[in-house]
Amino acid sequence: MGIASDNWQSVIENAMRRPNPTLRTERLLLRQPIQADAEAIFAEYAADTQVTRYLLWRPHKSVEETREFLRGCIAAWSDLSGRFAYVITLAQTSRPVGMIEIRLANFKAQIGYVLARAHWGQGYMTEAVGAVVGEALALPGVLGAWAVCDVDNIASARVLAKAGMTRQARLPRFIVHPNIDDQPRDVFCYSMTR
Ligand SMILES: CC(C)(COP(=O)(O)OP(=O)(O)OC[C@H]1O[C@@H](n2cnc3c(N)ncnc32)[C@H](O)[C@@H]1OP(=O)(O)O)[C@@H](O)C(=O)NCCC(=O)NCCS
Repeated sequence: MGIASDNWQSVIENAMRRPNPTLRTERLLLRQPIQADAEAIFAEYAADTQVTRYLLWRPHKSVEETREFLRGCIAAWSDLSGRFAYVITLAQTSRPVGMIEIRLANFKAQIGYVLARAHWGQGYMTEAVGAVVGEALALPGVLGAWAVCDVDNIASARVLAKAGMTRQARLPRFIVHPNIDDQPRDVFCYSMTR
């Protein structure tokens, strides 16, 4: 009963909360994914073991896996699940170089992201996180943003700090990062409130 009414409540809430499907920053365009992005995403980063090291998913073995993943991302924009994934492109281009996602639940927006290795270290993800967090915190009923990263993922922790989030906790044995270990690993939790 409780679960059903909670679900119903979140369906109503999510129907009222939809981030802008296109966000622009100084150097980036964040847009809704399309099925035709699969080849570029597969070639740019989805099969790269260094990129996926600290992620929840294993490197894709074929472009068909990337297509399947994108089908879910595209459907989520209209299924009221509260999940909104953006493809990241450099401004003036249409080729994906990464993705960033908002997940809305319990008055908060969880953020996750990935960028192709060729573009690391230029401040792009800090820029993208700033835009997405700003968009999420402007939505009705969203009081905060948060993210977790593996304690060894120094670049990601740095991105979250540079984007203005505060490290709140080290959560022990919290999430399985299957490319490192099949046992849950410690993560840092970062957050900011509106
Ligand atoms: C994490 C990731 C998104 C960062 O993207 P990015 O665009 O390179 O990030 P930025 O350039 O905005 O910032 C990275 C910061 O980390 C620092 N950094 C990167 N590797 C580092 C290392 N090994 N040790 C110390 N600092 C490091 C950079 O110097 C930079 O900080 P600075 O601006 O103070 O110099 C990118 O590396 C990535 O996609 N990694 C794989 C996927 C992933 O781990 N996603 C996050 C899951 S929680």
